Amino acid sequence: MEALKKAIQERGNVLSDHVLKVDSFLNHQVDVELMAAIGTEFAKRFADEQITKVLTIESSGIAPSFMAAHYLESPLIFARKKKSLTMNDHVYVSQVYSFTKQETNDITVSKDFLQAGDRVLIIDDFLANGQAAKGLIEIVEQAGASVSGVGIVIEKSFQNGRKLLEEQGYRIESLARIAALSDGQVRFIEDRLT
Ligand code: G4P
Ligand code: NA
Ligand code: NA
Repeated sequence: MEALKKAIQERGNVLSDHVLKVDSFLNHQVDVELMAAIGTEFAKRFADEQITKVLTIESSGIAPSFMAAHYLESPLIFARKKKSLTMNDHVYVSQVYSFTKQETNDITVSKDFLQAGDRVLIIDDFLANGQAAKGLIEIVEQAGASVSGVGIVIEKSFQNGRKLLEEQGYRIESLARIAALSDGQVRFIEDRLT
């Protein structure tokens, strides 16, 4: 997606060979026009999937997935990382391991909002090692619902996430695929021609 790649090149910062900072338009300040374009693109790519729910994880997945859900005319659910006061055992839970933080955290979704028969599009801001997506997939499975696909804003293709999800047979659509971050430069994998 050209507008996204342009934003990454012009407004992103390569912090190291592994980390791209995009606080200026995605992870802190949010470029709402760009999010609308991202939502439109996800909606286009998953138009034939009869999506009934969009599922993401707080907090940075919410902005892009909100716009995708809008254009897909579907509700948006965000998994929570901290147990809320009003949440009881009426929740689906999965464990997400973070390689970055070297810790495992529970994520939860209320059983009220995902049902058997739902066709779920999972969206997240980054795909690194795929652990967040894996945790969200486990929650969809607990609900007896099906994963129609995984939409990612920025994929770091040099990490293992895509491989992990593809091995399980999931369709992944990443709007920007980064081949490498080196010498302060972002190098993309070329887009498919659509
Ligand atoms: P994984 O889910 O793919 O295995 O990723 P990992 O544990 O490595 O990522 C931990 C957090 O770091 C996630 O955000 C993820 O979105 C974010 N992240 C991973 N790589 C990058 C990167 O290169 N740049 C930026 N900006 N973020 C990255 P989180 O802790 O869940 O926080 P939130 O922002 O969603 O609240
Ligand atoms: Na995230
Ligand atoms: Na993040």
